[in-house]
Amino acid sequence: MSLPTRVQLIDVGPRDGLQNEKQPVPAAVKIGLVQRLQDAGLTEIEVTSFVSPKWVPQMADNAEVMAGITRRAGVRYSVLVPNMKGYEAAVLAKPDEIVVFGAASELFSQKNINCSIAESIERFAPVVDAARAAGIQVRGAISCAMACPYEGDVAPERVALVARLMKDIGVQRVDVADTIGAATPLKTRRAMEAALKHYDLNNVSGHFHDTYGQALANTLAALEMGVWNFQSSVAGLGGCPYAKGATGNVATEDLLYLLRGMDIETSIDLDKLVDAGQYISDFLERKPNSRAATALLNKRA
Ligand code: HMG
Ligand code: MG
Repeated sequence: MSLPTRVQLIDVGPRDGLQNEKQPVPAAVKIGLVQRLQDAGLTEIEVTSFVSPKWVPQMADNAEVMAGITRRAGVRYSVLVPNMKGYEAAVLAKPDEIVVFGAASELFSQKNINCSIAESIERFAPVVDAARAAGIQVRGAISCAMACPYEGDVAPERVALVARLMKDIGVQRVDVADTIGAATPLKTRRAMEAALKHYDLNNVSGHFHDTYGQALANTLAALEMGVWNFQSSVAGLGGCPYAKGATGNVATEDLLYLLRGMDIETSIDLDKLVDAGQYISDFLERKPNSRAATALLNKRA
């Protein structure tokens, strides 16, 4: 067991969090959320995705949001890109990092991006080449790394395979994603070990949805392996439109509370983060989906 002393968080709330919202969220509100996240000290923010607006209407304002944010030095702004068409639009928005998103499950790949795993890698390859040539970082998401809403359990070998395919085309780091939040710590460990066959500890991150309330336990399992990069969503926003019933990512507030309690350093101010979560929750007219935020807001009241 070698716990990291520092953890790097990517808040994916503006993208993974909001993509699933039925009511349109104006670009100005998304921009306001990004602003509050960086004010809270987040140094990596997944802002939007350059996907088909027919598939995910909520992200149709991608260019407007990217143009509207006030960039801060030292903050990395990332966007999802599924293909060359997405890349061509994304590059105009000058992201620091693009995220190609594949899956360890064939059926999820089909439902999410309308192609097989092999075809997805073929589509990603020129995107990765173009991004790297332009000096843009490239991350790869491996969805359904533990379980799939259509196929059930996913074997770690599938994760290792996709990690290797991503490595071969030049993806620099990968997210091991529990898309439907169904994993438990042992499954998490096995999926992480599979990704770590092809990427080192600095280049593997945990992306845990919290549908079954296991995301913090899974995070701890990954921390104990030395993993120190994680994705989370302020106020626990979100879900994937192609994974019915899956709820949001682990709340950034909850994750930060855990890390602080373990003396693991981040750059983030919990109070300001709670403010960011309240801002977006107020807009959505609901309470933050975070136990830590709820407790801290009750205390304030
Ligand atoms: P397709 O229909 O197979 O694409 O969709 P196509 O190439 O046949 O094109 C069809 C139409 O889409 C054409 O327009 C294209 O121009 C347009 P038309 O001629 O009909 O007017 N099109 C695009 N428009 C804008 N941007 C683009 C783009 N590409 C094609 N990039 C496609 C394939 C990948 C586009 C589609 O399946 C798609 O957009 N999927 C998005 C899925 C998505 O965003 N899912 C959520 C994000 S993944 C996630 O949440 C998981 C993650 O959090 C990790 C985890 O938790 O697991 C990352
Ligand atoms: Mg996700």
